Amino acid sequence: MPEIIITENQIHLRNDRISYVIGILEGGIAAHLYFGRRVEAFNPASVLRRWGCAEDGSFDPQNCALNHVPQEYPSYGLGDMREGALIVRAADGTASADLRFVSTTVEDGKYGLPGLPAAFGDGAKTLRLQLRDELLGLNVTLLYAIFDDCDIIARSALFHNASSRPLSLERAASLCLDLPDDRWDLVTLSGDWARERDVIRRRLTPGEMSVSSVRGASSLLASPFAALARPETTEAAGEVIAAALVYSGSFYAGAEVGSRHAVRLQLGLNDRHFGWLLQPGETFAAPEAVLTWSDRGFDGMSAQFHRLCAAHVVRGKFAHAPRPILLNNWEATYFGFDEEKLLTIARKAAEVGVELFVLDDGWFGHRDADNSSLGDWVVDRRKLPNGLKSLGEKVHALGLKLGLWFEPEMISPDSDLYRAHPEYAMQIRGRTPITGRNQLILDLSRADVQDFVYHAVADILRENPIDYVKWDMNRNFSNVGSLALPLERMRELPHRYMLGLYGVLEKLQAEFPDVLFESCSSGGGRFDLGMLYYMPQTWCSDNTDALCRCRIQWGTSLVFPPFAMGSHVSAVPNHQTGRVTPIRTRANVAMSGCFGFELDLNKLPESEIEEVKAVITRVKELRETLLYGDFHRLLSPFEGHDTAWITVSPDKREAVLMFTRDLAQPDTDQPMLTLRGLDPALTYTVAETGEAYTGAELMASGLCVALPWGDAASVSLTLRAQ
Ligand code: GLA
Repeated sequence: MPEIIITENQIHLRNDRISYVIGILEGGIAAHLYFGRRVEAFNPASVLRRWGCAEDGSFDPQNCALNHVPQEYPSYGLGDMREGALIVRAADGTASADLRFVSTTVEDGKYGLPGLPAAFGDGAKTLRLQLRDELLGLNVTLLYAIFDDCDIIARSALFHNASSRPLSLERAASLCLDLPDDRWDLVTLSGDWARERDVIRRRLTPGEMSVSSVRGASSLLASPFAALARPETTEAAGEVIAAALVYSGSFYAGAEVGSRHAVRLQLGLNDRHFGWLLQPGETFAAPEAVLTWSDRGFDGMSAQFHRLCAAHVVRGKFAHAPRPILLNNWEATYFGFDEEKLLTIARKAAEVGVELFVLDDGWFGHRDADNSSLGDWVVDRRKLPNGLKSLGEKVHALGLKLGLWFEPEMISPDSDLYRAHPEYAMQIRGRTPITGRNQLILDLSRADVQDFVYHAVADILRENPIDYVKWDMNRNFSNVGSLALPLERMRELPHRYMLGLYGVLEKLQAEFPDVLFESCSSGGGRFDLGMLYYMPQTWCSDNTDALCRCRIQWGTSLVFPPFAMGSHVSAVPNHQTGRVTPIRTRANVAMSGCFGFELDLNKLPESEIEEVKAVITRVKELRETLLYGDFHRLLSPFEGHDTAWITVSPDKREAVLMFTRDLAQPDTDQPMLTLRGLDPALTYTVAETGEAYTGAELMASGLCVALPWGDAASVSLTLRAQ
């Protein structure tokens, strides 16, 4: 069980493997002393000497001394020259805060956050560390939770205006971590449309390094995640400290190297897209950040995030359920379909063993292209004369479930909704709104818009046999203005939008627990722990090219487990790259996530249909391991031509190994893979070859895989303990 031990000047959070230690220095400064491998006791003298503070914890805040103190929640303006976690503007226009220790409370269980996604679950302990700025009348509660089953510290902060005058929050970070040396690389996930989550690793240098978003979504370009890894850290070994936000909007994640080579890691709301007026008596909650430490390389880091997702983030009946193998009609038809065409595709899907048919964009309003009808969630009778209900019944009669695409946060200028309610769109008075993909964004800070969005989706789910929803969001913010917010609250719009969206999703989740939701944002443009709290899976990328997917899924797996990643087999030539890859390669890569198809199977030759049937049978057999096993990355597509990973069942008796090589080489040796995650004492049979090896051999000497001829060659092997 985790413990939170409070002594006179120290708070020590620990479980069996990690410790997090906070010191209360004289005068009440909450200092960060240690985060890492579990220790039984912590003497702060060495760390304080390293920082250059008094070793006994005595502390005089004069002479800019705070600049050399590792702090839990530093603020701006009283001697600390680094980026602060908190900027709060008082009624007199100045911005300084002096937070001093008041008290601690320890509770069993995990704290929750009002209106925000947050990790949950048993076996956690919560610390509330109360700080106060007397002059401002500002109470700040730092929230910490430690879990017993994963090496994660969850953090947030509550800000309460206990004064009689308004305060204005200009920055309210979720997490700040001060570390005493800068021998770290910063690792982030950065990309773009169709190439999400490239792993970017760079050495820390003096100054600030960060990734961020002001797009109103966590975004295609950067994930709300940052890791600090020692330069020698590899997949399998070395120290890593990593953090991610449980939030889906604009964010900041970065590190600053300051005086005396000290490092400050911070994650939270992006203050270029944030402000919050705190009236007397009001409280504001910062989104949650989750922090992990590993001395087993990136593999160890990912294991902690994956366990957190499985046990403490994803909710509802799908959290541990076999996810249905789906077929989505988007790349098969785009907007050009009618009921018969859909049923022809669905019939073939049912025949090969697919379980869910998803009707994508184009079923509502008069949407024949991406330039109209968002907001008019009424079935297009030209395409579906018998309506959705009838389609659902016919699809169900084939033995398939029915899924439906929505883009509920959007409004097309060419829509009945816009004609009736132009005020529903985010907009700046007097400016022509800038469209993106021909659409505007609904102002989800408004209660009437939240109601509209909730009812639009709920009514369709109530009236039709829909088993799955693909919830899309295809453009980022511009026109960041609301006709409903007063001037002094306009800076709150991006965060209020997220709160509005989360509120709608919470209601839908509660009302439709049997509907599986998949999040999407032009592919993986909002792949974050915040969305995962409401929707158990996310469409990884619009790019379904198998070779590109090796990179995308590798990067995604740094934080997210296979069961969170939508990954499908699509047609060749691939619609995003024009590349032709073997069906086996496409299937091998796609089965390492929530498996499905994005094509019309009627167009495949019979030989490939046989292969598809065999793959579906295999995925059904191995689904538990593929989705919920322990995922280990073996060979990185960012470092060479080869990609390999292995998923091992929790009892270590079954494993699926995936290897893909992008370009064939003449006369090269067959790849020899050193496996991970197996039980050294067990003997495994490779189902496809009949060979048997001990786990110890496979993890020491390795397994040589026989690669087929040609480019984009791939092998997927099943290992079973005897
Ligand atoms: C986005 C999604 C696609 C598809 C289209 C439909 O681009 O990422 O999967 O749903 O929208 O317009």
